[in-house]
Amino acid sequence: MRMYEIILKKRDGHSLSREEIDFFVRGYVKGEIPDYQISALMMAIYFRKMNKTETADLTRSMVNSGRVMDLSAIRGITVDKHSTGGVGDKTSLILGPLVAAAGVPVAKMSGRGLGHTGGTIDKLESFPGFSVEMTPERFISNVNEHGIAIGGQTVDLVPADKKLYALRDVTATVDDLSLIASSIMSKKIAGGADAIVLDVKTGSGAFMKDLESSFGLAREMVDIGTSTGKRTVAVVTDMDQPLGLAVGNILEVKEAIMTLRDQGPADLRELCLCLGSQMLVLGEKAHDLQQARGMLVEKMSSGKALSKFREFIESQGGDPSFVDDPSKFPYPEIVKELRSPQSGHVSSIMAEEVGRAALLLGAGRETRESGIDLRVGITISRKVGDHVKAGDPLAILYAPSEEKWKEAADLLLSAYHFSSVKATSPALIRGIVTADSEIRY
Ligand code: URA
Repeated sequence: MRMYEIILKKRDGHSLSREEIDFFVRGYVKGEIPDYQISALMMAIYFRKMNKTETADLTRSMVNSGRVMDLSAIRGITVDKHSTGGVGDKTSLILGPLVAAAGVPVAKMSGRGLGHTGGTIDKLESFPGFSVEMTPERFISNVNEHGIAIGGQTVDLVPADKKLYALRDVTATVDDLSLIASSIMSKKIAGGADAIVLDVKTGSGAFMKDLESSFGLAREMVDIGTSTGKRTVAVVTDMDQPLGLAVGNILEVKEAIMTLRDQGPADLRELCLCLGSQMLVLGEKAHDLQQARGMLVEKMSSGKALSKFREFIESQGGDPSFVDDPSKFPYPEIVKELRSPQSGHVSSIMAEEVGRAALLLGAGRETRESGIDLRVGITISRKVGDHVKAGDPLAILYAPSEEKWKEAADLLLSAYHFSSVKATSPALIRGIVTADSEIRY
């Protein structure tokens, strides 16, 4: 087999066989096929597309390029959850302990991420002493003992995706549905869970800006999961404005604690109940979504979800006293309100700009090597549909200096749009995609 022939075949619009896909994935990981040939192939795929079989074959080849987690020693049905990413998305921090409290074992591999804020692990490392470093044996025993463990994604998990994603990033070939779906799903499948719940974001702050491509990505990913024997459900959810009120690592941890106490913002609570219910049904802890929701609400209101979070933080070396008293978390130098320059109804808050303002404050990484400031970020005081008078607070910015505060405040202000009539806030849940159905709301 020659790489040249594979590029030519895809360039001319033909489908690649499983053997051809295996050949280029293996050859690339081993360093036998150069970047320039894989770049040409990615561009050919971008224009000519891959069918469902090719997409599933690519996913399988990528999974097989590295280690696959063996979670068979975990008692019960493990259900993983993945979000395609958005501004203020801290659902994993809440869902983990929430569904674990309801009896679904959570064995999650998570990342640090290059985003507007850190990833789940960065956020959890806000707790002094918390660590994701542990042997596979300890990971499994933690899940069996506490119902939940979160580990760092090891380098040997899907090495093909690491190389391919880095190449796609610099060759303008990231935004192809099959390539995105196979990239995400290969990591989920290698993570070893029995079932997967996907939160596919749609809107200005999401990877997929429009509803059609969000449903398209949801369908691709559900079909891949199903073809590998994993029950997979995708929920398409709004990312036209930030989720909840907090954007920034410690701020998001505090909001997660409030939500686990059942005192969180309504949209964040609702999303956690929706995704968590799907997880309980896939994990066979509830017969249907309604029963699952009732169980989750009880775990929040009774304090059991919060106790599970405390137990989890302690089990991974973190100081649990911060769960009981979040005011112990450090604050940055400047904590100051941004006030509205005008009266009116908030008609939109561009999530992307809010994220960029948080990044500017230091909440996220610009490059893999850069550090992040866990203390900084934004809490939003007014969301879409709210009325403000001139001078009312729009948000509080947590900044490392006056200069950064000013720069981020200007950017944040440009994210807000006002109108003279009351705007309706965008629907949070846009639809649900399963192996054999698609519901749009
Ligand atoms: N996230 C991923 O993990 N892979 C992609 O290709 C795009 C987003």
